[in-house]
Amino acid sequence: MDDRELIAAAREVAVNAYAPYSGFRVGAVVVDAGGGVHRGANVENSAYPSTVCAEAAAIAAAASEGARAIDTVAVACIDADEPGYPCGNCRQMMVEFGVRRVLVGTPDGGYVEHTLDELIPHGFKFAD
Ligand code: THU
Repeated sequence: MDDRELIAAAREVAVNAYAPYSGFRVGAVVVDAGGGVHRGANVENSAYPSTVCAEAAAIAAAASEGARAIDTVAVACIDADEPGYPCGNCRQMMVEFGVRRVLVGTPDGGYVEHTLDELIPHGFKFAD
């Protein structure tokens, strides 16, 4: 999948988001180091802190299928009128799996590309 297709796929999975409280549907597509593709959408909860972000769901799906390194995360919100940037917790989850770059969807279906280091400089990791 090329980058535009990744963002299109993130917008598609966002349709499956369970977001009755915020109305903010987010989709994420993760490409692991072997080229495997994994998807996730946000899943909200009446107990608000139990909500799972789209990127967290996609990263958990990738890890659950055996991925230990992730190259690219594409994320898109289909209800916002500006780019939906990953929250701090999701950025830290990306650090764990060595994400190289993040594509952040824009309302017109385009995207802005960032390195993970731009989004979370000095992210936490135990020394190897
Ligand atoms: N959300 C994500 O899915 N990813 C983020 O990085 C930020 C926020 C979701 C969580 C919640 O369902 C909704 O957006 C509003 O915070």
